[in-house]
Amino acid sequence: MPGATVYFFEETSQLANATASLLGLPVAPVVQHRFPDGESLVRVESEGVDRALLFCSLDRPNEKLVEVLLAADAIRRQGVQEVTLVAPYLAYMRQDRIFHPGEPLSQRVIAGLLDSAFDEVLTVEAHLHRIRSLKEVFACRADSLSAAEPIASWLEQRETSDLLVGPDSESEPWIRSIAERIGMRWIVGEKVRSADRQVAVELPPTPADVRSAWIVDDIASSGATLEAAAGILVNRGVSNVGAVIVHALFSDETLSRLSRAGIEPIVSTDSIRHASNAISLAPLIADQITNRSRILEAS
Ligand code: R5P
Repeated sequence: MPGATVYFFEETSQLANATASLLGLPVAPVVQHRFPDGESLVRVESEGVDRALLFCSLDRPNEKLVEVLLAADAIRRQGVQEVTLVAPYLAYMRQDRIFHPGEPLSQRVIAGLLDSAFDEVLTVEAHLHRIRSLKEVFACRADSLSAAEPIASWLEQRETSDLLVGPDSESEPWIRSIAERIGMRWIVGEKVRSADRQVAVELPPTPADVRSAWIVDDIASSGATLEAAAGILVNRGVSNVGAVIVHALFSDETLSRLSRAGIEPIVSTDSIRHASNAISLAPLIADQITNRSRILEAS
């Protein structure tokens, strides 16, 4: 990819650098400054760059969205023709319909903002419910990659476990996909959320010989889903319960609480910098960027 550079915000530096190294691309930091009144200023330096791959995960989106839009503008003003946002976690995808009168369609609002700044958006396991693809929401090229392969490879290298557990029906396609890759048994539960931090999970029966299980979920935020699913498994005599999460949105305090509840280990992909990071998404993202470039060059 001649003329391409990987730009990165400090928090996503590790994943950005690992991806750039796999792609053999130069890197450039986005320098951030916060004024006393809370406004942000960003600065980039680029020479001879035609294509920018801007890495910024969009957890804590209310502050980061503004900075990512500013960075896209700064990059373009340096003469860069094409700017791709690589947001391994893409926020605001959950509000994909009006649940209660008077609410916004947040997914469309945020997609519209990113459309106005980027030629392409790349993410991993976007939290999509009622729509099947980001292409239904974004006007620019947009792809959500599946984390099934990196998770399956990571699990394959651990000690064997008896069962994969998806806490809710939405997790079924990718729990199945992970389990089939490594020949594991799996079950998927049903979840009802009554409040931000309150969920009830029901799991189908676990086979009698199951002593260890991995709960696999795309997001952990309050940790309530993991706690509820793990509680059921422990009550059924499953003595080792671990968790694999794609997007670790939970606090250190929640991590300690979950560990105290007996969930051990708790690991996540590096989509968001977090103490639980163990699975790198760099190969997945690098492959997608390489394949996309080949398609664009051929067309
Ligand atoms: C929900 O559909 C997601 O797959 C996760 O289960 C959910 O976001 C986890 O949130 P929390 O940790 O707050 O229970």
